[in-house]
Amino acid sequence: MQATNTPAAPTHLRTASAGPGRTLHLVFEGGAAADLNLFWLRDNCPSGFHPQTGERTFDLLSLPDDLAVQSVEVDRLGALVVRWAHDGHTSRFAPDWLWRHRPGARRADPAAIAPVCWRAADMQAGLPRHGAGAILASDAALRHWMQDCKRHGLSLVEGLTGGGAASMAIARRISFLRETNFGATFEVVNLADPNNLAYTAMDLPLHTDLANQELPPGYQFLHCIANDAAGGGSVLADGFAIAQSLREQDPQAFAALASTPVPFRFFDRTVDIRARRPVITLDSDGALQEIAYNAHLTDLIDLPAQTMKRWYRAYRAFMRLTRDPTFRLAFKMSAGQMVVFDNRRVLHGREAFDPSTGYRHLHGCYVDRGEFDSRLRMLG
Ligand code: OGA
Ligand code: ZN
Repeated sequence: MQATNTPAAPTHLRTASAGPGRTLHLVFEGGAAADLNLFWLRDNCPSGFHPQTGERTFDLLSLPDDLAVQSVEVDRLGALVVRWAHDGHTSRFAPDWLWRHRPGARRADPAAIAPVCWRAADMQAGLPRHGAGAILASDAALRHWMQDCKRHGLSLVEGLTGGGAASMAIARRISFLRETNFGATFEVVNLADPNNLAYTAMDLPLHTDLANQELPPGYQFLHCIANDAAGGGSVLADGFAIAQSLREQDPQAFAALASTPVPFRFFDRTVDIRARRPVITLDSDGALQEIAYNAHLTDLIDLPAQTMKRWYRAYRAFMRLTRDPTFRLAFKMSAGQMVVFDNRRVLHGREAFDPSTGYRHLHGCYVDRGEFDSRLRMLG
């Protein structure tokens, strides 16, 4: 995460001298100081990167354990010039580069958009809506839409015409599609011989898709082609808001779900796909990173007795929150609309429908988080 009050990069270095341990002590114009690790500095010498690919070609193990500098100076342009003792190589570093990459400063990232948790009432008034035509025609509109998807984990795209190809064209504005055992795209319709509850007319409780995959798909696109049957309304809920609420109300339950991997499984006549993961995954800073919640794909829980007891109590507390109407955004999609959501954050479901009263058809596909973030960086 980027600090919001990062001062502008100084354009000059004031002094550079040997620091404590194997470091170089820098003082920037304006007075801010930084101690740079010598191995880090030599590892990032611009000469150690391929001129075309930008990849590192330098071998870190070519350095001696007692790496030292022979001389250090600030040149007349305010840049750092280091001559290394073991081989006489000279490295030059621009001051603004040194400032931006000083120890502890995370690299600026246009895709690092902090999630804003929401409840049903927030979205009833403020569900981000974007036009398909604008997303297809304009990079600025594409970027604005994608930033909304990152922030809220959810958006509604409207004005799709021309069947399933229309939603694929939108998804492909971001990147290539994530293929799964259900195909590169999938048709959510009531089937006579379903291999998945989605392909029935039954209700689908809130869930994330494919928690049984080694990497569950990232962004999901559910495009409504027809929704003419009685029932079949959509429900969405912010899994981060639910997890955050659990964290506040019942920290022990939150900790149990965040620390206990459980098995998920999908199988049919052709595949048997299994993975173990916790319901709540945190990043290295303890922030919410992803939710894997899918009661119909949860495999036999095989935990030791004490952990089992703790986990079931916690899981039921999470499950109860998914039934709380304050989290559940309910609406019925109409033809030409598409919900786009982060499947590793936002839970989705539907109410049952009566296929004898009309036809219902959603067209679905996924784009993974990595491709999504890459596109946002390129647009940024
Ligand atoms: C799915 C799904 C929701 C719906 O296909 O994974 O959850 O509204 N579908 O049919
Ligand atoms: Zn689903």
